[in-house]
Amino acid sequence: MLNLIAGLVVAYLLGSISFAVIVSRFSGLADPRTYGSKNPGATNVLRSGNKKAAILTLLGDAIKGTVAVAIAYHFQDALNYSQGDIAFIGLAAFIGHLYPIFFKFEGGKGVATALGVLLALNWVLGLATAATWLIIAYFFRYSSLAALISAVFAVFYDALLFGIQPETAAITVMSALLIYRHRQNIANLIAGKESKIGQKKS
Ligand code: G3P
Repeated sequence: MLNLIAGLVVAYLLGSISFAVIVSRFSGLADPRTYGSKNPGATNVLRSGNKKAAILTLLGDAIKGTVAVAIAYHFQDALNYSQGDIAFIGLAAFIGHLYPIFFKFEGGKGVATALGVLLALNWVLGLATAATWLIIAYFFRYSSLAALISAVFAVFYDALLFGIQPETAAITVMSALLIYRHRQNIANLIAGKESKIGQKKS
């Protein structure tokens, strides 16, 4: 149990690193929490017009999820982690991104971090979810809509690939939190006010 708690804490701390804020600071950009959707995430950093910063944010936020899960796999035998434990460690990294201890618990919506976690848990699961995001984003141009649909599909992909097991529960919680964090986007989509990918917003 202590081993699991240690894994959850390490993952949460890793997830608490907000690459949107850090990359923006190093790129001389405004804090993403002050413009656009005010979300510290890659989609909002893209609204600054700096594509490189947006890509770095996306990569950083995804990789921290991947690294949290990879560390857990590395110590799986030594610390006696089950696959379900590792999925919940991934969820802890995701929660770190949403409620970061280093940034007054005001984090992002978790899309990139969720993707990084899913890719590390299983690359087929991660790629299927990423492909879903890309297809919806390509046709509809809404990052949020793509994330919402992908989050639902990720649960189904996991259940289809491996059957319903503790990992499915962790992914379901992750998707539910992701949807909850997109409640303003959902309202905007319904009202036809959601901005499209790359569209600048003051
Ligand atoms: O990554 C979050 C995305 O789905 C929506 O971001 O900035 O449009 O609220 P944003």
